[in-house]
Amino acid sequence: MNFSRRPKNIVSLTLLTVFAALMFGCNQSHPQSTFEALGPVAQSQLNLFWIIFAAGALVFVLVEGLMIYAIIKFRRRSDDEMPHQTHGNNTLEITWTVIPAALLILVSIPTIITIFDNTNSPRTPAEGGLVVDAIGHQWWFEFRYPHPVNPDEEIVFANELHIPTGEPINIRLESVDVIHSFWVPKIGGKVDMVPGNGNDMWLQADTPGYLYAQCAEFCGVAHALMRFRVIAEPREDFDAWLLAQAEPAKESADPLIAAGKQIFQQSGCTGCHATDPSSSGRIGPNLTHVASRSTLAGGVFENRDEFDKVNPSLVQANLREWLEDPLNAKPGNIMGMQAAVYTDTNKALSEPDISALVAYLSSLK
Ligand code: CUA
Repeated sequence: MNFSRRPKNIVSLTLLTVFAALMFGCNQSHPQSTFEALGPVAQSQLNLFWIIFAAGALVFVLVEGLMIYAIIKFRRRSDDEMPHQTHGNNTLEITWTVIPAALLILVSIPTIITIFDNTNSPRTPAEGGLVVDAIGHQWWFEFRYPHPVNPDEEIVFANELHIPTGEPINIRLESVDVIHSFWVPKIGGKVDMVPGNGNDMWLQADTPGYLYAQCAEFCGVAHALMRFRVIAEPREDFDAWLLAQAEPAKESADPLIAAGKQIFQQSGCTGCHATDPSSSGRIGPNLTHVASRSTLAGGVFENRDEFDKVNPSLVQANLREWLEDPLNAKPGNIMGMQAAVYTDTNKALSEPDISALVAYLSSLK
């Protein structure tokens, strides 16, 4: 396509780009739109955005307006005329140095206030605020909560951050491998998860909701598939959820489930995946209650049906698709690349093995 010969193409391409930006980026109903702030952190960031946008728009209109004025006013009016040449104007030069400087100072005040507000939690852990550890892994998120009963233990969960509404949540960010970034567009972020150098942030959701979130720092081949969900719920529901997570994995006498558990233990799965609620520091997500989560494989598969409920048959179908070909669902993932059952054809899982594993894993609610 030769754009220089087809100005119409440029116009339609520009219009299409603007339309797409409005449809996806700036549409409030989009699940990851920052234009719908559902908590104080996101709201202060959105307010700051509008202040900077307004300042930028003012500068744009002023500069472009003066430029158009000058182009028209001082244009060459005939072929034999040389337009009036001006060299230096102290008043003008001082004016256009002072105005931007003043504008920058004006913008810096709300910026600095917002940075401090977003950094300093209104209820720190020392003041009794809830604290959650969020750990970035290639390519999934681990969350660790204080144990509701036993203060020496933690509850380890993956890819779903449950938070009580209406209170500040302190989040300690870490990474086990490369730099990731923690971002929940509608309630706040992005803050980097840096290996060996923890970051702190706080978030708050004012209303219950199911929020989309993702890694916002390029971290390798499956970066775009490193997602998580935030479930904001009333305090009672959150407390009940955390108590349920503290329970050990469900046991079952069903022969297929028992067979699946045996395959899980004998095929090397336990080397990376824990199945007790307090075990962390492994390579893969803790699977104690994997079948209760709204997504699978770091937000790649949706386990919820059209009624927004985790649907057991969807969980089973997703587990099967994931176990049959993890590299197809999430290119580059460590399980597909390194687990013996995927790299050594002698140890590959058979169809009956996968059926038993699906039965076992989908019983872990
Ligand atoms: Cu983790 Cu991008």
